[in-house]
Amino acid sequence: MIRSVAHRVRARLFPPPPVPQESHVFEFIAADIVNNCNLRCPFCLVDYSQVKSTNLMSEETFRALIRLAPAVPLAGFWLSCLHEPTLHPKLGEFIQLIPLNQRRKFWFTTNLVRPLPDALIETIAGSGFHHINVSYDSFDEDVFAMLRKHGRLKMFRHNLDRLLAAFARVVHPPFLRYITMAYRSNVADIPAMVTWMNESGLAAEVEIRYTFNTANISEDFRREQFLETEEWLALKSSLDALPYTNIRLTMPPADYNREHPYGPANWFETVPPTPPPHKAFKRPMQVRVRPDGRIHLNGAENVFAVKVGELADPIAFFESITSEYEAPPPDCVASAPASS
Ligand SMILES: C[S@@+](CC[C@H](N)C(=O)[O-])C[C@H]1O[C@@H](n2cnc3c(N)ncnc32)[C@H](O)[C@@H]1O
Ligand code: SF4
Repeated sequence: MIRSVAHRVRARLFPPPPVPQESHVFEFIAADIVNNCNLRCPFCLVDYSQVKSTNLMSEETFRALIRLAPAVPLAGFWLSCLHEPTLHPKLGEFIQLIPLNQRRKFWFTTNLVRPLPDALIETIAGSGFHHINVSYDSFDEDVFAMLRKHGRLKMFRHNLDRLLAAFARVVHPPFLRYITMAYRSNVADIPAMVTWMNESGLAAEVEIRYTFNTANISEDFRREQFLETEEWLALKSSLDALPYTNIRLTMPPADYNREHPYGPANWFETVPPTPPPHKAFKRPMQVRVRPDGRIHLNGAENVFAVKVGELADPIAFFESITSEYEAPPPDCVASAPASS
């Protein structure tokens, strides 16, 4: 508690440096620097059954990609969307390649389950990134191992405890956001977890999430673990009773349909490079980037895919295909929502 208060006071006394204001061609760039994960969570929106090897973004592609940072707003540049960024052995080096005055635009989400070296933890703490999302679903070893298949709670806590200590040592650490998936197996523990995240875990925000229902999730998992409406309402009441204002509970929408799942979120990773079909996309754009540098339109990933490494001036390229006024193409193909 004391450390968390000191942390907040220090952040107020020494506000982070301002981010340069440019006109934004992009609303967000949701990049992945790898195409794989160390875990196989049963609720994951990604279908890893066809992913046979791990592709890593090259340093050359990463350097090409971050040329787009000036065209992105604060917290608009994701270094992970669908996959696990700590699988990339150069994550720390990549962070250091980002110009200091652009760092507050960046963030990523991690399961924090791989053995992470101290040096990487220090780099993350001192990165100047806007925030880091940490996925944390259970205090219980067995529940953790079931929900984070192949993950071990002990390794997670070893990483998290060192990350918290490192964050407490620097003046402007990234904000820490926790994401907790809600299921029958962990729902009773969520209020205690939220309390811990606030009192000891330096939480700037805690997101409690329903499951984007993708076709790769097994029917058994849906039946055994998905919460019913009354269980969501009971969770909401117990969270409302807590003294924190930073809890974001995202419950299933009214039209949530367990019988008709979305396609898995990585469906577009087989789309070949295709030039943009016209030059009137609406600005600001939402795009996704794959580890080979292919940039896709978010939500309409098959409309085009261009490799950022092949663009001489990527900001000028995207300015040339966008306009403030024209609507996106009508034949957009919907996909699962982009995950944070
Ligand atoms: C796709 S993961 C990628 C980052 C990292 N591997 C992790 O799990 O933290 C990003 C976030 O989405 C959450 N997530 C995974 N599958 C989901 C689903 N079907 N619906 C909603 N969120 C999901 C994860 O728990 C994580 O917090
Ligand atoms: S939710 Fe994250 S940690 Fe789990 S399998 Fe998916 S990408 Fe990996």
